[in-house]
Amino acid sequence: LTAFEFQRRLLDWFDQYGRHDLPWQSPRSAYRVWVSEIMLQQTQVATVIPYFERFMARFPTLEALAHADQDEVLHLWTGLGYYARARNLHKAAQTALDEHGGELPTQSVEALTALPGIGRSTAGAIIAQSTGARAAILDGNVKRSMTRLHAISGWPGKPVIENKLWALAEYFTPDERLADYTQAIMDFGATLCTRARPDCVICPFNDVCAAYEEGAPQRYPESKPK
Ligand code: ADE
Repeated sequence: LTAFEFQRRLLDWFDQYGRHDLPWQSPRSAYRVWVSEIMLQQTQVATVIPYFERFMARFPTLEALAHADQDEVLHLWTGLGYYARARNLHKAAQTALDEHGGELPTQSVEALTALPGIGRSTAGAIIAQSTGARAAILDGNVKRSMTRLHAISGWPGKPVIENKLWALAEYFTPDERLADYTQAIMDFGATLCTRARPDCVICPFNDVCAAYEEGAPQRYPESKPK
C-alpha cells in the first residue's frame, strides 16, 4: 500500500464518515486545538466537548488562561480527571506568554514539546491541525490502526516497536490536507478500527490489512507484558 493510496482512501472515508463539526475545528486556532488535544489525551470526544466549550467561554485566549488563578482552571477541569493536564496547561500558557509573545510556538515539534504536557504526538497534532504543516501523530488510535494494518506483534510501548510505528506514521503522513488527515486518522481509530470491535466489513483497508487477513484483528495491539 503506497502512502498516496493510504491517504486517498483515508481522506475519502473521512469526507463521508469523519467528524467535521467539532468545536475546535472552527474557528481553528493553535490555542483552541492545543486545549482540545490536552483534554482529548485521556478522554473521549463526546465527554470533552462541553468541557471545551465552558473552558473557551471562560478563557477565550492564551493570555486569559495565563492570567487565571490555578483554582479556577482546576475548577473547570472538575470531572475530566488527570488534573496534572490542567496544571500543565496553565503553566504552559504562562511560559508561552513570557517566552513566545503570547503565542504557542507552533514552528516546530521541538519548541512545542519543551512546554509541559505536550509530547511528540500532541505536538504533531497541534501543528498539523493549526498550521497545516506536515507533522505526524502517533496516539493510541494510530498505534492500533498501524499494528493491525501491518500485523505488528509486540507491545507498542516497547521502544523498538514504537520507533517502527513512528516511521510508519511519518511515511503515511501526506503533504496536503494535514488538518483533515490528522482528524481522519484519529476518527478512523476511534470509530471504526476500535479496540474491541473493529468494523472490518466496511473498512476501506480490509483488502490490504494484515491483521484482517490473519482473521483476528483484535489480537493487535498486544498488551504490555507483565
Ligand atoms: N484524540 C486526540 N485528539 C483527537 C481528536 N482531535 N479527535 C478525536 N480523538 C482525538
